Amino acid sequence: MIGRLNHVAIAVSDIDAATAVYRDTLGAEVSAKVAQTEHGVTTVFINLPNTKIELLEPLGAGSPIARFLEKNPTGGIHHVCYEVEDILAARDQLVARGARVLGDGEPKIGAHGKPVLFLHPKDFLGTLTELEQA
Ligand code: CO
Repeated sequence: MIGRLNHVAIAVSDIDAATAVYRDTLGAEVSAKVAQTEHGVTTVFINLPNTKIELLEPLGAGSPIARFLEKNPTGGIHHVCYEVEDILAARDQLVARGARVLGDGEPKIGAHGKPVLFLHPKDFLGTLTELEQA
């Protein structure tokens, strides 16, 4: 069912410092910083030859990553995102196999403009798992 690894997301408290680590220390190609007010995060994408790293910094009150950073003040891997051909078919199969979808269970338009769903970390080895329509 799952296809390519679309990205690994890393939550950080200082996105400029985090971007500098990837750009200057690791020599990666980095995108401009984008404020995603509807998602409560600021993002930078690191473009690697085979996937992306998504840096996430909290934006505004009630950011969905604020609690994660309270527990992981130096930052950390927040979620992984896999591509699926048909997000509704994938959701229905996963629910039938006992997995829990976060929120109301309906896909939302994610940070890349495509439908996404998040799966409960307790059902996936302690890892918040995002599915994105390919
Ligand atoms: Co993501």
